[in-house]
Amino acid sequence: MCGIVGFTGTRQAAPVLLDGLKRLEYRGYDSAGIAVADGDRINIAKVKGFVQNLADMTHDGGDIGGAVGVGHTRWATHGAPNDVNAHPHMSSDGRFAVVHNGIIENYAPLRQELTKKGYVFLSDTDTEVVAALLETYYDGDAKRAVMKTAARLEGSYSLGVVCLDGTGRLFAMREQSPLILGLGVGENYFASDVAALVPHTKNVIYLDDGEFAELTPESITVYDVRGRAVEKPVSRVTWDVEAAEKGGYEHFMLKEIMEQPACFKATVEPRIRNGRVEFEDFHLTDEELGRIRRIVITACGSAGYAGQVGRYVIEELCRIPVSVELASELRYRNPIIDEHTLLIVVSQSGETADTIAALKECKSRGAKTLAIVNVVGSTIAKLADHVIYTWAGPEIAVATTKGYTTQVAVLDMLAVYLADRLGKIEREKYDRLVLALLDMPGKIQRAIDLNRNIKKLAKKASAHNQIYFIGRNMDYAVCMEGALKLKEISYIFAEAYAAGELKHGTIALLEQGSLVVTLACYEPLLEKTMSNIEEVKARGAQVLAVAQEGNRQILKKADDFILVPRTEELFTPIAQIVPLQLFAYYVAKERGCDIDKPKNLAKSVTVE
Ligand code: F6R
Repeated sequence: MCGIVGFTGTRQAAPVLLDGLKRLEYRGYDSAGIAVADGDRINIAKVKGFVQNLADMTHDGGDIGGAVGVGHTRWATHGAPNDVNAHPHMSSDGRFAVVHNGIIENYAPLRQELTKKGYVFLSDTDTEVVAALLETYYDGDAKRAVMKTAARLEGSYSLGVVCLDGTGRLFAMREQSPLILGLGVGENYFASDVAALVPHTKNVIYLDDGEFAELTPESITVYDVRGRAVEKPVSRVTWDVEAAEKGGYEHFMLKEIMEQPACFKATVEPRIRNGRVEFEDFHLTDEELGRIRRIVITACGSAGYAGQVGRYVIEELCRIPVSVELASELRYRNPIIDEHTLLIVVSQSGETADTIAALKECKSRGAKTLAIVNVVGSTIAKLADHVIYTWAGPEIAVATTKGYTTQVAVLDMLAVYLADRLGKIEREKYDRLVLALLDMPGKIQRAIDLNRNIKKLAKKASAHNQIYFIGRNMDYAVCMEGALKLKEISYIFAEAYAAGELKHGTIALLEQGSLVVTLACYEPLLEKTMSNIEEVKARGAQVLAVAQEGNRQILKKADDFILVPRTEELFTPIAQIVPLQLFAYYVAKERGCDIDKPKNLAKSVTVE
């Protein structure tokens, strides 16, 4: 969704801001803009559409002078995506320009109040009230105006403010929406995402809710709500700028699919010491562990589907009841959650609004909370009692791939770890599973190598308007993710069904030539899945089976197949999903879709 950048230094700001905005494009947006203070005025350029339009309009920023500025990519919430509603928004006296992520929930009464006082608004946005408040409260002290403004705002926001008071000052404020400060030499930065900072610096400060920062080229000072300076730790970003670039691949999605063996390894290996699973930031005392009666996994989209896989593995190994709940439902459901619940929240971005709300709701009901998150320092990582990071590196394509597989990796490890702590697993099985986890990067690579012909299958599938995914048990969990991957990037209607449910309605939809992707790797139920294959074939459907290498029975029955290597049974989903990601990728490519930025979608869904 929206992206923010800010820069203060001695060189021309506009090209730096445009470069930052390009690095945030992947988040999804519909308009872009920059504001730069130059002498006694703030110059604004903003336009509906791509950052490239803005770059063209300003000759790559060359037309805009000044060394202090802010930039923004907007994903419309209040007001249509057009040039006027695009950020930055300027106060009517021209002293402040503001960029904003999030939603100012009380913007309507504020707008009414300010209008009554004679303030004239130009846009339909909630953001413009911030510029108006800054103007109203300015009495020669910009910091005071920022504090007074923040005190009036309700909702979630990160704000970047450029102020024309001759000091080259920028302000950055955070309330439930990420904002990271970057420390340079003779210049400083802020951004809503580390990806925009890494080309300049790896030294960053994560702002906390309620804090705001004042930036000059030489200094960054962070303040709390009351304006008292706060000492903040400086963190070091662990990945390089190349990690957020395409590296020769046509799309980020393909690059990220191919990175999965390495990401899986980075997530798993450091947590296995002397053959034992150990988490650096997840310590439950025996007493805390003994208190847990059930586990609830909550998340949205693919992260929830990773949770579905986790449910099977944890229940199987730990014999604790596990439910997977959509965060958007859980938050409003008056859920039965108490101190006997371990709540696991799963999120790549760590900023998904519904997941944050569900986490807060369950925390307030006494649950012990554990977050599985990719983005370091994100809101969810800060809110949960414990956090286990997935070391997938930056994920740029909107459709998650390496984010998902590393989430499953952590859930698998967690299952093994908890089973051991609960005394539910024998030593021999524990050792076997740990070895199998260490072996998975090779299996993922093999799953990629085995399917070099997948483009042909994708070409064939790309002509369909709907594709059904069926499977049982863990295969069903993978179906959900496989279908989501396909629908979100290829726009083919794709839905996952538990194979045993077909007869209860869905089979009515099948006709001659329908395509049914059948996941058939879960061995204990293979005979049942075989019967489902017979059923759908009898209705004239084509079967594209996902089967383990050497499974002749399935290969003989299917019209086409995707092969996956044999793995420890509980970890098969990881090997299965990788070729299904490739399948979705090539179907979307065949259909000429914008693979990295599917329509209507945003990388991190920071509003409800
Ligand atoms: C699908 C996808 C989304 C996310 C969901 C949750 O490919 O990426 O379904 O999984 O929006 O996002 P996070 O994991 O950032 O909480």
